[in-house]
Amino acid sequence: METLKDTMLVGLNGVLELIWPLIMLVTLVTTYPVLALWRVLRRLFTFPLSMQDKVVLITGASSGIGEHIAYEYSRLGALLALVARRGEQLEAVAQKCRGFGCKDVLTIQSDMGDEEGCKKAVDETVQHFQRLDTLVLNAGLIQIFPFEELEDTQKVRSIMDVNFWGYVNTTKFALPHLRRSGGQLVVNDSVASYLPQLKNTIYNASKAAVSAFFETLRLELGSDVPITLFLPGVVKSDMTDGKAVQPSGEFATGDTAVRRRGEAGFGLFPVFPTPALARRAVAAARYRLQRVVIPSWYSLMFYIQAFEPELLQLQLWSQFSGKNSPVKKTTEMLGGGLKAPKDFNFKEGRGYKKEE
Ligand SMILES: NC(=O)c1ccc[n+]([C@@H]2O[C@H](COP(=O)([O-])OP(=O)(O)OC[C@H]3O[C@@H](n4cnc5c(N)ncnc54)[C@H](OP(=O)(O)O)[C@@H]3O)[C@@H](O)[C@H]2O)c1
Repeated sequence: METLKDTMLVGLNGVLELIWPLIMLVTLVTTYPVLALWRVLRRLFTFPLSMQDKVVLITGASSGIGEHIAYEYSRLGALLALVARRGEQLEAVAQKCRGFGCKDVLTIQSDMGDEEGCKKAVDETVQHFQRLDTLVLNAGLIQIFPFEELEDTQKVRSIMDVNFWGYVNTTKFALPHLRRSGGQLVVNDSVASYLPQLKNTIYNASKAAVSAFFETLRLELGSDVPITLFLPGVVKSDMTDGKAVQPSGEFATGDTAVRRRGEAGFGLFPVFPTPALARRAVAAARYRLQRVVIPSWYSLMFYIQAFEPELLQLQLWSQFSGKNSPVKKTTEMLGGGLKAPKDFNFKEGRGYKKEE
């Protein structure tokens, strides 16, 4: 039974529903120029953090974005701890880092979907370097299949385990060290945390969880441990090549990987080159920016999501026209399209299976 007080509260909220959008609009229009000026001044008068001899731990460094972030930090003189499961790939990346000038690279084979694996990554880094200055959370898995194909949700828990709990657990173990060194957290999220993408239900949910967790943690940590969240659009990597989890919990291989990759909405958007993405992400972290969308044009989509969500349904169009869309054709002409999936060097272990 609704009481008189309930009715009054509903009425009060009704008034706010009417006037709040107007107040917000006025606030946005009046504060935006001031904020924009402040951002420019801040950029001009803030010195980027020097990374010389700073210890940077990067999760998911055996390929894609993590690999290129490692190269970027190497050029800046940082000392690196690189984590992933594929040992050989990790060693190859470490070798290249040395070539780019990194004086000390530690490779750690660990499963970031496991709490123990996250602890191992932090412990071994601190044991080796005696400190930790920057934690880059990047290891991740994607899924490409419609939700209704999933019979057993247990099979794909790995997505949440790695993408969300892996970030949370590593943060938990690293925070005392970051506090001690006056260090920072750098988090690879995704525009997927705001923009729904077909056939990526669990992946998108994991990225939205990452966003919510770190935006909240930022409020708790304040400036003690700054957090830079970067949200990439579609970037060339193993993931966009089709290294995607299937309803069985294993990665797609061969023809299935090709077919699944084709079914994802990736093709509609121009691919952003991985080295350029890494350069911008590391620059954002060095300037201690809170949140960057790379490339920035994606951020306009957030307004569409907030004010005209119906328009997002238009992406269904990509399912039919993605293959021949003008964006995709232009991108391919510029050499920025997605090429045939490569051999991912499939191995036994969580998510992996031997190629038939
Ligand atoms: N590519 C894009 O378009 C895009 C866009 C937005 C955000 N992102 C995010 O960028 C991050 C990196 O992805 P990517 O695009 O560079 O793809 P990628 O080339 O597949 O890289 C993923 C990395 O994560 C590692 N990894 C996966 N599961 C792991 C586990 N259980 N334990 C330890 N390491 C694990 C992989 O190494 P091993 O397999 O050797 O363990 C690999 O180094 C992900 O968080 C992804 O969500 C990517």
